[in-house]
Amino acid sequence: MEMGTGSRDKLVITGGWKLSGTTGVQGSKNATLPILGATILTGGECSLLGTPRITDVEVMLKILRLLGADVRTFRGELVVDTKGIGSCHIPPNLMREMRSTIFLMGPLLGRMRKVIISHPGGCAIGNRPIDLHLKALSAMGVEIRDDHGFIVGTAPRGLSGCDLHLDFPSVGATENVMMAAVLARGTTVLRNAAKEPEIVDLQNFLNNTGARIMGAGTDTIRIEGVDSLSGTKHTVIPDRIVAGTLLIAVALAGGKVRLEGIIVEHLEPVIAKLREVGSELTMGDDWVVVEGRRPIRAVESVRTLPYPGFPTDLQAPMMSLLSYAEGTSIITETIFDGRYHHVDELRRMGAQIKLDGRTAMMKGVERLSGTAVEATDLRAAAGLVIAGLAADGITVVEKIHHLDRGYERLEDTLRSLGAKVDRAKAA
Ligand code: UD1
Repeated sequence: MEMGTGSRDKLVITGGWKLSGTTGVQGSKNATLPILGATILTGGECSLLGTPRITDVEVMLKILRLLGADVRTFRGELVVDTKGIGSCHIPPNLMREMRSTIFLMGPLLGRMRKVIISHPGGCAIGNRPIDLHLKALSAMGVEIRDDHGFIVGTAPRGLSGCDLHLDFPSVGATENVMMAAVLARGTTVLRNAAKEPEIVDLQNFLNNTGARIMGAGTDTIRIEGVDSLSGTKHTVIPDRIVAGTLLIAVALAGGKVRLEGIIVEHLEPVIAKLREVGSELTMGDDWVVVEGRRPIRAVESVRTLPYPGFPTDLQAPMMSLLSYAEGTSIITETIFDGRYHHVDELRRMGAQIKLDGRTAMMKGVERLSGTAVEATDLRAAAGLVIAGLAADGITVVEKIHHLDRGYERLEDTLRSLGAKVDRAKAA
């Protein structure tokens, strides 16, 4: 998978162009990553359709190869054969590149009964502890120790199913437990589980390989351990965050766009907010037409919450939209602390934003001014690109490698809809 994205690439956006046309969306990053992790458990050949061409997936494939998997693409399918996996050690440089590697603990313990990782990296969006993951795995019989900066997990006699209650419905911890439990002895019941659609996709994938999981998408998941799994074929769900980003882009830039091949139900929290700002939306089960209208109305409250609440991953794009709204809007980020790095950059464009702890207050302005801004994390990058679509003059978003972690060439999609967005490649 050669994408040729560089850490010094920039996006150059000329604001003021409306969006129109029809587009699909890539497969879900947050579904693909755990499913790739889960292929380890099968010890067989899995064919995945719809996986996105993004750098986070590249990193995950690099890790799988290093562990001993065979990875290739065949007629548009990603084929991962994990029969040859012989290592359980994820090198620190790759752990640092992507926090999602944390949920490789579950599948490696399930398959190899041992895992060695260092503390995970990923987006710079505040303190991201892994205590919930470690607590759940310990309860399943994993002995965890710190060894010179590495976390070493061992379960020489295998893992045992048990009753677990998460203190917070963490997406990653829910997935980790599901993957650790499928080959464990006995039954695991996970309460206060996260309910994100990507967890349902993981359940569907694992059940196709022979696992016995019930309840994903609700707050109680029951996993009956089985002796072994086998390879399968699976299509990942469409990316609701990419779809939401495009809907917000149209709400801000104006124009009329049809998104196809999506699961509209997954977008309900975003659709509700876009109706509040005055956008027109019509939809079927797998398509939506959005029409951006002026004036953009302010929104009294946007609170990021676990699914089906408003997704934290769309907080930055939403803030860009509300920076242009008529009146004062309030966003409260309840999932991550420190997920407001885009605020300073939006201010450089003229946005009027006051921060007080987890709350941001936006006094909308008629237009932001294009200038050079810097992406600090994946979703901040998307927010800045969107802000540039309606800004006066030219916005240059630097450090666009953050965007490439999760969006498959967003500039191409936006350009196909009429936006003026170009990638300036680093020399
Ligand atoms: C996943 C998504 C990410 C999304 C997030 C919340 C993937 C690959 N990433 O991340 O895009 O923004 O869900 O929807 O699917 N926490 C703890 N201790 C833990 C684990 C988490 O305190 O052991 C806290 C985190 O610091 C955070 C909150 O729980 O404040 C939510 O984190 P979590 O749901 O685990 O997010 P991720 O799985 O990392």
